Amino acid sequence: FAFSPANQKWAEAQITKYPEGRQASAIIPLLWRAQEQEGWLTRPAIEHVADRLGMAYIRALEVASFYFMFQLQPVGSVAHIQVCGTTSCMICGAEDLIGVCKEKIAANPHTLSADGKFSWEEVECLGACANAPMAQIGKDYYEDLTAARMGEIIDELAAGKVPTPGPQNGRYASEPKSGLT
Ligand code: FES
Repeated sequence: FAFSPANQKWAEAQITKYPEGRQASAIIPLLWRAQEQEGWLTRPAIEHVADRLGMAYIRALEVASFYFMFQLQPVGSVAHIQVCGTTSCMICGAEDLIGVCKEKIAANPHTLSADGKFSWEEVECLGACANAPMAQIGKDYYEDLTAARMGEIIDELAAGKVPTPGPQNGRYASEPKSGLT
């Protein structure tokens, strides 16, 4: 693994933000940029970042494996779907959403679909509990999901469309009523 010239320049700029002897503090932005470049964090990519920051590989892996925004397995070329499975979402139907992912993508998480376009996983609370159940796809949140809508979103992505993120039940379709009299 090696950063592209542009990413290498960017990485060096990040490292200079930290005081001498504290370069390891740049690990999260460097891992993130490596993942953006490769699609997921390969072992050589983590080793490269660790070497550049003067860290042991295991220390870098500890960080990469702690946060679920870092992917340690290959992800779908079109989308990696992260379904929240924590309490609010679980009560409101997360298992149904996971069922759709199992049916349409792969029976197990972190497994590519047959065409390589999709992967999925269950993650912990993403902080959108009021709009449960929800899933993150790429950098977008899809909220107030139903199993049917989850299936439609996967179909739309497979067809090259970009489903509109945010609440999927139209809760923001009209202005909220004012004047609670
Ligand atoms: Fe799902 Fe918080 S429980 S977003």
